[in-house]
Amino acid sequence: MTRVIPAIPAIRAAIDAHRQKSAVIGLVPTMGALHAGHGRLIEEARAACDLLVVSIFVNPIQFDRPDDYERYPRPIESDVAFCEARGVDFVFAPAASEMYPSPPLTYVEVTRVSEHLCGAFRPGHFRGVATVVLKLFAIVQPDRAYFGAKDAQQLAVIRRMVRDLNLPVTITEVATVREPDGLALSSRNEHLNAAERRVAPILFQALQAAARRINDGIACADKVRAEALAVLASRPEARVEYLEIVDAEEMQPVSRIAAPVRVAGAIWLGNTRLIDNVLCVPAACSESGRHESQP
Ligand code: PAJ
Repeated sequence: MTRVIPAIPAIRAAIDAHRQKSAVIGLVPTMGALHAGHGRLIEEARAACDLLVVSIFVNPIQFDRPDDYERYPRPIESDVAFCEARGVDFVFAPAASEMYPSPPLTYVEVTRVSEHLCGAFRPGHFRGVATVVLKLFAIVQPDRAYFGAKDAQQLAVIRRMVRDLNLPVTITEVATVREPDGLALSSRNEHLNAAERRVAPILFQALQAAARRINDGIACADKVRAEALAVLASRPEARVEYLEIVDAEEMQPVSRIAAPVRVAGAIWLGNTRLIDNVLCVPAACSESGRHESQP
């Protein structure tokens, strides 16, 4: 039976009772509108933890556009049923006034990792994410927390925050869940109209084209990038915000691909912004590398 708890003192008390029995506590932070991508995180966490907490909180301080915050879906009843069906113990679903009784004066800023990709186009976004995740860690005090590879820069920001601040939590990355046509599941996909939905898989197709070139042994990032951009250009309805090849840890653009990289992109379809990424390990770095060295 899933318990929905909106208040911070109540969630703390409920979790403390289990912590005293040495239960391994897992946290899956979400903004709700749960789909199979969140479901994968919840299932992995359920299998590894004794007590599972899912937080559902549409965090105002990570939105750079007020309209995006306002129209973000909030289907709390079906979200709770979704959690119930997957054996979640507690849903922590605070109001904004519970998390931010007064405007915060303290923020967490993970510099460098949040500089490029989404960070360059969404001012303050990762500051808001890191701050709310640290608050959730302080409230729930989980042993383990689960994040999706779909938001690779977010994951890198959280990992770095945990490392820099010596937070006693193990971060687990969970693979991206996709529709059969490759579109990464996202709560924002429901804003796409039928025509936009048909175009949406182009982002993953472009990333796959880049991954293929990297697997072929092309080490020049500009060349790989140009191919991915050409794929995107085949659908002019898709407006490209960025398409970059970055190192997998600090998310810095690379010019030569000689170590694992993320190829990451963001496009707009109408008023909806989609992001996606793939991890690519160049053949020369993988154990079964087919190419010794590449030009
Ligand atoms: P939200 O977008 O709800 O995502 C919650 C978690 O689900 C994130 O770790 C995200 O990477 C993961 N996720 C989303 N779509 C996925 C997919 N298709 N496959 C696998 N995992 C997926 O990300 C946030 O919320 C917020 O920024 C949050 C971390 C909760 C802080 O407010």
